[in-house]
Amino acid sequence: MQWGSATLAFYGIGAAAVATSVAALRKRLELSQAKHPSLSGHARIAHRLARFVPFYEYDAERFFCSDGATHDIAARRRAGFNQLSQIYRTRFAETIRATAEAAESLSDLQFTAAYRVPFQYRRMVRAHLPSASFVQASHGVMLTDLDANRSYDLTGSYGVNLLGYDFYKATIDRGAARVRELGPVLGFYHPAIAENANMLKEISGLDEVSFHMSGTEAVMQAVRLARYHTCRSHVVRFCGAYHGWWDDVQPGVGNPTATRQTYTLTEMSERALRVLRKRRNIACVLVNPLQALHPNISPPSDSALIDSGAGAHFDKARYGAWLKKLRAVCSERSIVLIFDEVFVGFRLAKGGAQEYFGVRADLVTYGKTLGGGLPVGVVCGRRDLMKRYRDDHPADICLARGTFNSHPYVMAAMNEFLHALKTPQIDALYRDLDEVWNARRDMLNARLAAADLPVRVANLSSIWTVCYTQPSRYHWMLQYYLRAEGLLLSWIGTGRLIFSLNYSDADFAAVVDCFVAAAGAMQRDGWWWRNPALTDRTIKRTVLKEIIGERWARLRRAVFGNGQRTA
Ligand SMILES: Cc1ncc(COP(=O)(O)O)c(C=O)c1O
Repeated sequence: MQWGSATLAFYGIGAAAVATSVAALRKRLELSQAKHPSLSGHARIAHRLARFVPFYEYDAERFFCSDGATHDIAARRRAGFNQLSQIYRTRFAETIRATAEAAESLSDLQFTAAYRVPFQYRRMVRAHLPSASFVQASHGVMLTDLDANRSYDLTGSYGVNLLGYDFYKATIDRGAARVRELGPVLGFYHPAIAENANMLKEISGLDEVSFHMSGTEAVMQAVRLARYHTCRSHVVRFCGAYHGWWDDVQPGVGNPTATRQTYTLTEMSERALRVLRKRRNIACVLVNPLQALHPNISPPSDSALIDSGAGAHFDKARYGAWLKKLRAVCSERSIVLIFDEVFVGFRLAKGGAQEYFGVRADLVTYGKTLGGGLPVGVVCGRRDLMKRYRDDHPADICLARGTFNSHPYVMAAMNEFLHALKTPQIDALYRDLDEVWNARRDMLNARLAAADLPVRVANLSSIWTVCYTQPSRYHWMLQYYLRAEGLLLSWIGTGRLIFSLNYSDADFAAVVDCFVAAAGAMQRDGWWWRNPALTDRTIKRTVLKEIIGERWARLRRAVFGNGQRTA
């Protein structure tokens, strides 16, 4: 049989097309396999599901027995709840009043008040244990609310408070005094900035520095630079990691836009490395080393604590080994490795996560505590990556601006902070950091175990998270018992406790007493009643059934009107 050249060409093109499609399909499959199986790993599905979940709530009866508790247990819980409510109403009266009044105008307060507990319990909790979000003073490791109650601060001001509030008050005062003559002049620089840049180069081991107003902006700039220099489009971030609230690094629930140039991959996974090796469109990989405490899990929040939660365990050697592998693949593929140290920078070690894990990044972002108590974001990077223009193409630039970048007051407070790092007093705080905080963790866990309480803590140095050792639908109640015992948590609740390094052994021992007392009271009030039939799986199944039931009921109401079937 004779093959015409046109036929041969046709088959050739066909074969090439099939081969290309198979290769593309395989790459797509590899990408899917490199995603974490949880919803956080699948932004689009998470978005759709979020829209599917209807609001419903438990009434005053079901609130106390949503886990199938007996009548007696529900009655115990109700009595405990009422007593706690009474404590709140009397002890925090003015703080609650001021919070409720301000919430009328502050959307942030409305949001944080609503998202403290799983939504099914929200209305009862807000009515009886209202938010008390105002404080008037800080001293040592304590905050004072509007009713003059002094409580231990476990919020760490979102991580900013590393060295103690008194330290930052002094830093801000000294810094302000230094730049008073200049005032808030922008566009020119106070000499402090040059010294800051030099000190940051030394700390980061990198060549250049740029200043921004927040951690979010620093991350935006680092990613922009990576895209500019690699001429590639995509950002890789790891499942669960927070990098600020800019669209491209926050795909999924919370961000109404669909991010099209972000891959969210599984952290500590060979499959993720395979994707990095194969894809040619990846500009950079973002790592938030805080995730070492709970890889692939979103920052734990009590509003999502419907069962015993995800757990946490930090393994320094394993995470360090992962970062080294990641470093090697990024170097091999000319992908920019960005360490986002906005949270952990200066907290794990003076040289941050790079020093702590012994791995060098190409770009590093800092923020929070580096501002010496004032708002800031910083990018440190390799000289070739930090450059914002091309010598041979003058019109091809990479813009980064911001009115308040390099504000003299911020630069001066930062200068005070960076100088303080070199003093023997601060040096002493960093000495045996992990040993100190791990011993404190063990001390609290031993007390909790001795009291037979179903609570433990896990930590990455001074960043802690509360874990629960038995299934329950009520773990989120612990935040209210802790507050009543004098421990202040941030609005996300027990998922994140942040200590400042100025906690003395005596301060910490007092916190342990309060913590154990709070958990003991919660235990006595019956919230951790053990139902052998209750597992995390059965809890999730119950909630899913409720959600589907509610959707169905709404559909029926829409079709039949008020649920009344016409005969
Ligand atoms: C790792 C990380 N990156 C970026 C950000 C965003 O910083 P900012 O809140 O200053 O915008 C945060 C904030 O918590 C963070 O933890």
